[in-house]
Amino acid sequence: MTALPDWQSESMPPSQAARRPAPGFREFIQILTDRGNLVRVTEPVHWQYDLGRRTRAAGRPILFENIEDYPGSRVFANGLWSPGAIRLALGLGFDMPREAFLAEARKRIAHPIPPRVIESGPVLENILEGDAVNLLDLPVPQWHDRDAGRYLGTWHLNITRDPETGARNVGVYRMQLLGPRQATVSTSQRSHLALQMAGAERAGQPLPMAVVIGVSEPLLMAAAAGFPGGMDELELAGGLLQQPVEVIRSQPNGLELPAQAEIAIEGVILPGVRVQDGPYFDYAGTPSTNSRALLFEAQRLLFRSNPIFRGASVGMPGAEDHQLLAFLAGMNLVNFHGSASRRVMQNLLFRTRHFSALQWVDRINRKTLMRFLRKPA
Ligand SMILES: Cc1cc2nc3c(=O)[nH]c(=O)nc-3n(C[C@H](O)[C@H](O)[C@H](O)COP(=O)(O)O)c2cc1C
Repeated sequence: MTALPDWQSESMPPSQAARRPAPGFREFIQILTDRGNLVRVTEPVHWQYDLGRRTRAAGRPILFENIEDYPGSRVFANGLWSPGAIRLALGLGFDMPREAFLAEARKRIAHPIPPRVIESGPVLENILEGDAVNLLDLPVPQWHDRDAGRYLGTWHLNITRDPETGARNVGVYRMQLLGPRQATVSTSQRSHLALQMAGAERAGQPLPMAVVIGVSEPLLMAAAAGFPGGMDELELAGGLLQQPVEVIRSQPNGLELPAQAEIAIEGVILPGVRVQDGPYFDYAGTPSTNSRALLFEAQRLLFRSNPIFRGASVGMPGAEDHQLLAFLAGMNLVNFHGSASRRVMQNLLFRTRHFSALQWVDRINRKTLMRFLRKPA
């Protein structure tokens, strides 16, 4: 193990560490390697079940370098495997005390930084269009034997613009691969994406979307956070990163994409079409199905040379989605949509790491409601 560069030093005072920008995706993997945190898997691993099983068993950052059927491909997971990892991903000391860390994160969120448009970036190194696009060429894992299929989107960004207001939305909405150019987008009915899609459908238009995989972790943190009042998640990511997110403007649909991303898939969500997503082993640790998922059709595939696919195996106690949601709940930034009281409940349950309880609370609520509705007046 090499000596830690000073900015990774665990004894560095928070004020000093806070001045360092957060690492990019590959830089983060390098930091984990240098710290001795990364498990490198060089023996063959199958993308179906095997990769997911190994990810869950490792319980720490893992890089698969030998995936059956995908010579030369790599998959990274478990990046945010512990609260300390979240600090590292933000350029802070691994052992920074919780209160100081949350204060620093809140300060960064309060100072958003707009993205900077640049002319070119690594994501443009390879471009495939139309019939040349085949999402099955990516080493997309089937994470769990209870999942209906391979999940293209588990730790990624969905970038869209509101067709009526032009406002950007960046979220994380799970995506099941359905074929060479099609995937589901499973989104709650009240998410910003669902609202934008409703606008597109009113106009009878498809909604352009970019799916971005393999980005600096703070981008994902911003996308997963539920900010009140339509804030631009790329600006918030800039705040978390302490520097602007560099973006390139996509030619076909005008969406801006993080220039340093490993993989970006551009396409459209088709109007008036709903498909089944799942069952999928979700954050609550149980298989869930969405019978009204949206349908995404890919048109262009952009990727860095030798890209690293990023995914997550979610729902196990302590898994990285739980770490992320607990961190966001610590700042009251979890919003799985619904009433104000539901939001308070979500943040409380996630902060105290009762992830499966949310579904029980919902079920009990539904049962109580049904009983109430059935009561004769
Ligand atoms: C790993 C992960 C997976 C998620 N998957 C979904 C999903 O499939 N559907 C969904 O509606 N929200 C999902 N979320 C939650 C949304 O990303 C979150 O509610 C976000 O605030 C949505 O953005 P919006 O409020 O702009 O719609 C997920 C969050 C994480 C961290």
